Amino acid sequence: MSSKRFENKTVIVTGAAGGIGEAYARALAAEGANVVVADLADEKGKQVAADIGGLYVSTDVADEESAKALAQATVDAYGSIDGLVNNAAIYGGMKLDFLITVPWDYYKKFMSVNLDGALNVTRAIYPHMTNGGGAIVNQSSTAAWLYSGFYGLAKVGVNGLTQQLATELGGQNIRVNAIAPGPIDTEATRTTTPKEMVADIVNRLPLKRFGTPEDLVGMCLFLLSDEAGWITGQIFNVDGGQVIRS
Ligand SMILES: NC(=O)c1ccc[n+]([C@@H]2O[C@H](COP(=O)([O-])OP(=O)(O)OC[C@H]3O[C@@H](n4cnc5c(N)ncnc54)[C@H](O)[C@@H]3O)[C@@H](O)[C@H]2O)c1
Repeated sequence: MSSKRFENKTVIVTGAAGGIGEAYARALAAEGANVVVADLADEKGKQVAADIGGLYVSTDVADEESAKALAQATVDAYGSIDGLVNNAAIYGGMKLDFLITVPWDYYKKFMSVNLDGALNVTRAIYPHMTNGGGAIVNQSSTAAWLYSGFYGLAKVGVNGLTQQLATELGGQNIRVNAIAPGPIDTEATRTTTPKEMVADIVNRLPLKRFGTPEDLVGMCLFLLSDEAGWITGQIFNVDGGQVIRS
């Protein structure tokens, strides 16, 4: 069954040059959205945008002027903005270190992208959600509920940001939710997490297989769609049962 929930809607996906963001961008385009691919990886990002008939805007989510330029380029191309997926993060190739030893300059740069990046882009975009509201999906992780050092700490922040922004933007009918994926088979995971560690995590999942970007697509598109019109401030685990909270 095919549906076109996003016809005449414009959705920005940050970090969509590859991995999970690319899967979101492709699925949104398949359902009729005008998709804006925002990334730092220009070559890959341009390719994804060209494949799906979308727009590529070279963007650093940590930079205020860059986020404003992303908003302007989107409005110039499509008039207004209906959805935003804050998916970009330093993940593939990230430094593996501890909170108590990671160099401050790396930690600050990391947080400026992985936590403040979502706030920075949201601040630039929300004034252009002028079609009676909008939907924002932040990319969290089950890392927020498990030990994973500064990576997990940033995702705890993303969860908090989701709840706080939902409150601040609800009056404008802008909904803000988050997805917390479990381990997902992307090139970034393959280069960042040792194979044996992934095998061990997957083995302990109730649903004993590695997740795929496509496993996340249904939740992301649902949260962006009108069907989720009375859902905001929530964090949804899509994780093969990795985290079960009572
Ligand atoms: N893969 C997993 O197992 C997993 C699990 C849970 C959550 N996540 C989260 O999902 C998201 C995507 O993960 P992925 O596996 O596709 O990794 P990825 O590294 O392929 O995706 C991150 C994207 O963000 C881009 N990016 C990095 N810094 C940027 C910046 N300053 N401005 C703009 N773009 C920037 C990268 O170029 C890349 O395209 C991340 O937020 C990650 O933390 C991933």
